[in-house]
Amino acid sequence: MKKRTIRGTDLTVNPIGLGTNAVGGQRLYPTIEDEAGRKFLKTAIDHGVDFWDTAFIYGPKYSEEIIGEVLTETKARNQIVLATKAAQKMVDGTMVVDNSPAFLQQAVQESLERLQTDYIDLFYIHSPDEDTPKYEAVGALQELKEKGVIRAIGVSNFSEEQLKEANQDGYVNVVQDEYNLINRENEKKLFPYTREHTISFVPFFPLASGLLAGKYAKDTVFPEGDLRTRKSHFQGDAYIQNLQKVEQLRDIAEGKGVEIANLVLAWYFTQDAIDVMIPGVKRSEQVLDNLKTLEVRLSHDEITAIDQLFS
Ligand SMILES: NC(=O)c1ccc[n+]([C@@H]2O[C@H](COP(=O)([O-])OP(=O)(O)OC[C@H]3O[C@@H](n4cnc5c(N)ncnc54)[C@H](OP(=O)(O)O)[C@@H]3O)[C@@H](O)[C@H]2O)c1
Repeated sequence: MKKRTIRGTDLTVNPIGLGTNAVGGQRLYPTIEDEAGRKFLKTAIDHGVDFWDTAFIYGPKYSEEIIGEVLTETKARNQIVLATKAAQKMVDGTMVVDNSPAFLQQAVQESLERLQTDYIDLFYIHSPDEDTPKYEAVGALQELKEKGVIRAIGVSNFSEEQLKEANQDGYVNVVQDEYNLINRENEKKLFPYTREHTISFVPFFPLASGLLAGKYAKDTVFPEGDLRTRKSHFQGDAYIQNLQKVEQLRDIAEGKGVEIANLVLAWYFTQDAIDVMIPGVKRSEQVLDNLKTLEVRLSHDEITAIDQLFS
């Protein structure tokens, strides 16, 4: 497996990383068990899946806590490139977004404690707030970077205007935002700016929460409270149309003898804004299955066919 450097940083990783919002993630997936998360984190360590993506809000706190426990138990901290995010806090039972320098610096300290580490490889502002000038928020992270507490700076869920403001001093290294075959808006919105400024674009929801892995059907029922019961591409006619397109992906995948999830993830690597991917998983088998993406080679015709199917 050939490692890749995330542009704009000195972080070098397996391009197939690991999304961990299902680790201790009962808020998104009510039926998930913590033990499944511990297990697939260990599978990832054993198989060189070394770019992990977590956040304060996954749990909240549990995802970071479980990751900290597993990394301490396995003594694998230095094998893993750890990305986390923060910006949210609870005020009188309501979630409030805060990008103030003081809060972000406190949030980094708290993440360090939960992750049981003294450095974070990539720290993202998880979402923009309404008040803080974006360059001030990023400036606070730059101070932590200069002290060696974090190694790279990211922002997530920022509009193009917010990203430009955040990057006014050139401090932003990585942007994370939604991107998948069903939602390609960022090809126009964020890709041009990130490419021009040597910022790596990390797509979240690359499998559209599993829809693009080809296992769901018209009559699939998700548990009550599951994230997928709230997503528009899982509702009504949009869902039926998406399933029909996934069936066409299945034809291409079967023709190549690969799984649909691998075909889809391989297609994203043909986008030059993208260096690395963080597909989320719920079981160890999915860690291993996603790794097979690295063996998939797409022809020009296949790239074009997938592009047109979801144009
Ligand atoms: N910055 C942000 O605001 C933000 C927002 C969302 C997510 N994220 C990050 O992005 C990561 C990825 O997003 P996501 O996990 O929500 O969605 P995703 O990657 O689009 O989909 C993940 C789901 O797809 C299914 N899956 C994964 N690998 C598979 C395989 N090989 N074969 C079949 N099914 C497979 C699993 O669901 P089933 O087994 O249930 O089918 C898995 O939970 C997250 O884990 C998180 O770290 C960030």
